[in-house]
Amino acid sequence: MIVTEHRSSQWYGGDDRNAYIHRAWMRRGLPPHAFDGRPHIAIANTASDLTPCNAHLNEVAESVRAGILEAGGIPLTMPVVSLGETQVRPTAMLWRNMAAMATEEMLRANPIDGVVLLGGCDKTIPSLLMAAASVDLPAVVVPGGPMLTGTFEGTPLGCGTDVWRLSEEVRAGTLSQEQFSRSESSMIRSRGHCNTMGTASTMALVAEALGTILPGLAGTPAPDSRLLEMSHETGRLAVELVQQGRRPSDILSAGSFQNAIVALAATGGSTNAVVHLLAIAGRLGIDLTLDDFDRIGSRVPLLVNLQPAGKYLMEDFHRAGGLLAVLREVRDLLDPTALTVTGRPLVDYLDDARIWDADVISARSAPLQAASGIAVLRGSLAPAGALIKPAAASPELLQHRGRAVVFDTIEDMHARIDDPDLDVDADSVLVLRGCGPKGYPGMPEVANMPLPRKLLARGVRDMVRVCDGRMSGTAYGTVVLHVAPEAAAGGPLALVQTGDYIVLDVAARRLDLDVPDAELARRVPNVATVQGFAAPRRGWERLYIDHVLQADTGADLDFLLGSSGDQVSRESH
Ligand code: FES
Ligand code: MG
Repeated sequence: MIVTEHRSSQWYGGDDRNAYIHRAWMRRGLPPHAFDGRPHIAIANTASDLTPCNAHLNEVAESVRAGILEAGGIPLTMPVVSLGETQVRPTAMLWRNMAAMATEEMLRANPIDGVVLLGGCDKTIPSLLMAAASVDLPAVVVPGGPMLTGTFEGTPLGCGTDVWRLSEEVRAGTLSQEQFSRSESSMIRSRGHCNTMGTASTMALVAEALGTILPGLAGTPAPDSRLLEMSHETGRLAVELVQQGRRPSDILSAGSFQNAIVALAATGGSTNAVVHLLAIAGRLGIDLTLDDFDRIGSRVPLLVNLQPAGKYLMEDFHRAGGLLAVLREVRDLLDPTALTVTGRPLVDYLDDARIWDADVISARSAPLQAASGIAVLRGSLAPAGALIKPAAASPELLQHRGRAVVFDTIEDMHARIDDPDLDVDADSVLVLRGCGPKGYPGMPEVANMPLPRKLLARGVRDMVRVCDGRMSGTAYGTVVLHVAPEAAAGGPLALVQTGDYIVLDVAARRLDLDVPDAELARRVPNVATVQGFAAPRRGWERLYIDHVLQADTGADLDFLLGSSGDQVSRESH
C-alpha cells in the first residue's frame, strides 16, 4: 500500500487561515515544497546531559536527519522526557509511564507522520515504545549503543556489575577504599550505555527481536562508525514506513513477543525486560502474560557469556556476531512470520549471521546452560507471581528453606543489615518489602540486598533474598523479585514476620510462607510496615500510586492500557 495523503497534510494542506498559521510558524528557512505533502518525521530524542548514557544521541540524530532528507522527508527534532538511570531519585522507574505518556501525547498533538525513537539508558527505549504503540504512528528505534570496555588494574570493568562486586570486596575487606575510588574513572570508558547485559543492552536487543529496529543494529557500540551509518539508513527507512503506512500495530504481534522472549532468554537478559515487555504488549492489546516468559523462555538455551551472569561485555558481544548470530542458533524457536520495520520477517536476516568467537556466543550444540530464561514462581507468598533468574543465582540455593529476616523499608535494611547483633545466618532468607510500584513508589532496583557484613567476613557470597521491588539488570544473586501483589497492595509479603520459614523451590516454581493458613488469616501488617508505605499528597507520585498496576502485568497505569491512535478531533485556531 502506498499512502498518498499524509497526516501532516491535515495541518499544512490547503490555503485557508489555519494551514497558513501551521506553515508560517514552521517556515524559518524551510522552502514551500517542505509542505507539499512529503513525510514529516519527528526524531524523538532522549539526549540529555543528565542522561549520560544518551548524551551522544544528538550526533546520532544528525545521521538520522541526513537519511530522512535524502529520502525526501522533513526531519523534525523533538526532545522528549529522558531518564538517567543512575541520576534520578528516588528511581527512574517512577517516571517510565510519565515519559511514555508525555511522548505519546506530543506525538499525537504535533503535525508529524512518523517518528524515529532515539533511546539507550534503561527506561528510555521502553517508554518510547510504549508511546509509539499507543499513538500507532509509523515508528522505528535507534538504540544508542553500549560503551566500550574499560579496564582497571588489568581487568575489564563491567558497568554496574563490577560496582556491586567491588563494593562487596570493600565491605569484605579484600579491596582498599583507595583502590575502589581509583576504579571510578575506569568504569565509564566512552559514550554509550552500560556495557553489561543489563537493562539497556537487554532492551535494545529485545526491541530488535520485536522487530522495531533495523536488523543488525542493536548492540553496535556507541562510538562505532557503523552506528551512524545505520542511523542514516534508519532515517531513510522512516520515510519508507510513512509512505507504506507501516505502523507498530502492523508489525507487532504475539509472534514478535515470542521472538523477544527467546532473545531475552538466549542472551541471559535483564529481569527488567519482563515488566517492560508486558507494558508494551498492554499498549497493543496483545495478550502477553507472566507465564509466557516461563513457558517460552525456559526451554531456550543460554548462549551468551556476558556479565552479570558471565564473563564478557557488549563490545565483545558485537565483535562475536551480536544478536543475529544468537538468533540463528535458536531459529526453530522463533516465529517465522513475525515482521520487522523493514516489512520482512526477522528470520530473513539470520542466514548470513555467524559466530566469530565461540567463547562469547556459544553454538546451540554447546550452550552455557541447556535451559535459561526467567522462572516465574507462585505460592502463598506470591499469589500473582514472582521472578527469579536462575542463571544469575547460586545453584545450591535454588531449593531452600530458611528463616525470614524482615526489613520494612530500604532505610530499615541499611540501618540493621550490618548490625553485629542481627539474628541472621547463611541459611536465613532476607526479606525486603514496601518496594513495589505503590509502596516505594516506583519499584526501585533494591531486591539484590547487600549481605550482612558479618556473613561476608565468614566467606558467604550469596543468600536467598525476597522483595517486591526490582533488581538492576547488572546485578546477580539468588534473588526473588517482582513479588506480586506487593506488600503495599495487600500482598501476603506484608504479613511475614522475622523467624517465619520461607520455602523456595525453583524447580517446582514455588515460593511459600510456611505459616498455617489460620494463623496467616489472623495477622495484620504491623505499624512499621504500614508506615513504610509511600503516601504522597499530590503531583505525579499521587497520580502514580492511585493508578499503577502490579508488576505481574507490567506496572503501567490502568488508564494508559491500550491505544488511542493518532487522530486529534478538534482544532483551536
Ligand atoms: Fe544508563 Fe546503565 S545507567 S544504561
Ligand atoms: Mg537499572
